Amino acid sequence: MAKRLLFVLGTRPEIIKLAPVIRCARATPGLEAVVVHTGQHRELAAEMFQVFDLRPDHDLAVMEPDQTLFSVSARILDGLARVFQQETVDLVVVQGDTTSAFLGALAGYYSHIPVAHVEAGLRTNDKFSPFPEEMNRRLAGTLADLHFPPTARARANLVREGVADRRILVTGNTVIDALLWALELPHTPSAAIPDLKPGERLVLVTTHRRESFGEPHLRVFRALRELVDRFPEVRLLFPVHPNPNVRAQVGTHLGDHPRIHLCAPLGYLDFLHAMKRSFFLLSDSGGVQEEAPTLKKPVLVLRDVTERPEGLESGALQLVGTDPEKILGAATALLTDPAAYAAMTKNPNPYGDGKASERIIERILAFLGPPG
Ligand code: UD1
Ligand code: UDP
Repeated sequence: MAKRLLFVLGTRPEIIKLAPVIRCARATPGLEAVVVHTGQHRELAAEMFQVFDLRPDHDLAVMEPDQTLFSVSARILDGLARVFQQETVDLVVVQGDTTSAFLGALAGYYSHIPVAHVEAGLRTNDKFSPFPEEMNRRLAGTLADLHFPPTARARANLVREGVADRRILVTGNTVIDALLWALELPHTPSAAIPDLKPGERLVLVTTHRRESFGEPHLRVFRALRELVDRFPEVRLLFPVHPNPNVRAQVGTHLGDHPRIHLCAPLGYLDFLHAMKRSFFLLSDSGGVQEEAPTLKKPVLVLRDVTERPEGLESGALQLVGTDPEKILGAATALLTDPAAYAAMTKNPNPYGDGKASERIIERILAFLGPPG
């Protein structure tokens, strides 16, 4: 009998980062992949399922407008309980720091099924930043039997917390596997991505972290407006996350500027196209911090702390937080000083070589033993 891996997919980054692992599992004799989607981010998920040729076996349909962390957590756990009653599973695979990752690990534990955690060991060591992601990742790690940190730094965090060495394998980040896969796919960019006149520069923005809702976001939006006013050659493209706490404020403060282009979240292939076309990015996204160095695009990180210090050390990332002075200072340097720009783009990507999924599946096979 083949060994059955159950993959829990909740939000956008989990779909992107587990798609290459699922592909690799499906191509491996002796393994079967069962895919559960929580039903979160349905509008964002549909394109990504299509891009990566995925059809979830179970859809928990948990999403409700303005859901709270309490309510969505309760529905995810309840939905997973039903799936575990129906499926025979040898290993649960979760990814990253989302609530679905933590609850997928918890559901595995409640069912006495071992858990593998992809993108394990990243830490800010600040319980509330990012919130609730820092604790989601820690809790998933506490429940996991196999840990796949992307870097040596992430591995060292796990070792420091007492995880046994034999349970850990450094793999690189699977987002690079996904990125290299997606870059090969044919694609016609959508009209949401603005045309640039000669000499114009595109700045791509994303922000959706819960700790930035409210006043911190207002400071960021003030800085963005000031940036396009100071630099007439800058066009800003801002795919706005559907979380209503983000959407409402963005529209009010940035909706009326001729060189600020607000749009719905872009499909993955469109977003990669926009990244390639951009001069630099301003973002609080984790995945973007990992992808951009491969495309040689600097990222000004709209957060006070990052769990991705390797990118800071390689120069590819710079922390600017939500302080308008810092944001404008760093953006101005990139737009006016070629040396500052070169310093952020010269080093290789510390997050992986595109082979993380193969390493993960090989280790899982060894862990589960031969098909019985
Ligand atoms: C979630 C993750 C976050 C991850 C992010 C990736 C948690 C707690 N948060 O944040 O770690 O970085 O996804 O994008 O796991 N909404 C929609 N449509 C969507 C998505 C969201 O309408 O496609 C709205 C809904 O009103 C929903 C709210 O946004 O109630 C919050 O969505 P939710 O999935 O709970 O959290 P995110 O902020 O998207
Ligand atoms: N992304 C996308 N469309 C967008 C914005 C982001 O496809 O409009 C991709 C991006 O390339 C990255 C992932 O979504 O791979 C990051 O997701 P998100 O920022 O939601 O989550 P995080 O990485 O912060 O957990």
